[in-house]
Amino acid sequence: MATDYLKRILTAKVYDVAIESELEAAPQISARIANAVLLKREDTQPVFSFKLRGAYNKMANLPPKALERGVIAASAGNHAQGVALAAQRMGCRAVIVMPVTTPQLKINAVKARNAEVILHGESFTDSYNYAKELEAKEKLTFVHPFDDPDVIAGQGTIGMEILRQHPGPIDAIFVAIGGGGLISGVAAYVKQLRPDIKIIGVQTEDSDAMVQSAAKGRRVTLTDVGLFSDGTAVKLVGEETYRLARKYVDDYVTVDTDAICAAIKDMFEETRSVLEPAGALALAGLKKYAARHRMKDKTLIAVTSGANMNFDRLRFVADRAEVGEAREAVFAVTMPEERGSFRRFCELVGSRNVTEFNYRMAGSTQAHVFVGLQIAAAGESSKIAGNFRRGGFTAIDLTHDELAKTHLRHMIGGAGPAADNELLYRFEFPERPGALMRFLDSMPPNWNISLFHYRNQGGDYGQILVGLQVPTTDKKAFAAFLAELGYRHWDESDNPAYKLFLR
Ligand SMILES: Cc1ncc(COP(=O)(O)O)c(C=O)c1O
Repeated sequence: MATDYLKRILTAKVYDVAIESELEAAPQISARIANAVLLKREDTQPVFSFKLRGAYNKMANLPPKALERGVIAASAGNHAQGVALAAQRMGCRAVIVMPVTTPQLKINAVKARNAEVILHGESFTDSYNYAKELEAKEKLTFVHPFDDPDVIAGQGTIGMEILRQHPGPIDAIFVAIGGGGLISGVAAYVKQLRPDIKIIGVQTEDSDAMVQSAAKGRRVTLTDVGLFSDGTAVKLVGEETYRLARKYVDDYVTVDTDAICAAIKDMFEETRSVLEPAGALALAGLKKYAARHRMKDKTLIAVTSGANMNFDRLRFVADRAEVGEAREAVFAVTMPEERGSFRRFCELVGSRNVTEFNYRMAGSTQAHVFVGLQIAAAGESSKIAGNFRRGGFTAIDLTHDELAKTHLRHMIGGAGPAADNELLYRFEFPERPGALMRFLDSMPPNWNISLFHYRNQGGDYGQILVGLQVPTTDKKAFAAFLAELGYRHWDESDNPAYKLFLR
């Protein structure tokens, strides 16, 4: 099987549409982490991601009759654009099924390449199932986003280029994983020729189907996946990609949203290019893995796999990059409302840069402060919190508190002590016109909304914080409401920042 992949990759047809992307040195990141870091710039492909390699190779290997009938795919992301471009070049029909929630921007991008767009279903699974139905009915060929030998071989050409572009020593190659097509292809090639090179898979902490599958020894279906890195939000990895990953992938690392934002910033500072979250995943994983294993003077490669990000999302990325880089820490500090306490607080902050400062009196004897400070290294935040405490203040380190970072810092209104039986929930949901109103509509009328904060995270998904007054006798009904709603959610009712600023 393995030699079969080597042959498939060596003979893959991708260069009618794809470029041989640069393998570029990253001197600033290299200096910072004391390893030689190289970036395989797949974000510079014609559709700003590697996806056209697999799609084109699949289509180039189809018999002429099948090509004449056309192809079908289900995707709202990079795969859709890859298939659309490949079909346009080959002059064949392409039908792309997308969930009805797909932002217009992505629909237009695919239509601009003359592909036919069908909006069907609420989720990707619905679109996928409908595409499979149409495949049979209209005798189209289904182009799978990852679980197909020709797609895998197309992505594998990235491995081939890396070895050709850098014949010298390479210690590890870091690759983002969604369904696993990219890493399977790269690993299948590299391990045949240079088995000494470690292949490390990178996933997000909240979308780690391959990591969990590898650990359990069978493919695991996730019930929920995080939406931030939309390119890799896959609930079930492929059969063939799982088989190849088990065989060839040496290790895995998972990263959080803040680390991805920090990697997007690193990339911007290094190259002035902006990656999408999935595109920066490999670099975020490289940084974390190198630090965890105390790597030094190694040659490490990250495949920067895509750059399709809505401009609006940059606001969120910029907000979070500082925390991800361990350059910002945030705290809730309670101080006595008395002469001199503000001054004492400023002395404790010292010469550090203040990134954010919110002050609110709480009754006649106390005041609450939400403060962001620039720091030099991870771990410093707990030391600073200790300093505040020694200085006589109550301090909570909120540097890793999602509620505080996403919602609290943008909220006004202060505490609502009159809200009896208040439950606080955080929700994440796919964004689309009317989504917020739909959410509000689904709120049961018998429970009072005591708090609401919504923030659009840049086109693809939104985050909401809701306080609801739910009598204890209604707990069951509330659980049923959550299940019916179907959005990812977190109970934040015991969150210390909530208790301090909003209760
Ligand atoms: C930018 C980007 N990176 C990585 C991936 C993951 O690729 P795969 O699903 O083959 O694992 C995708 C998938 O669409 C992607 O769009």
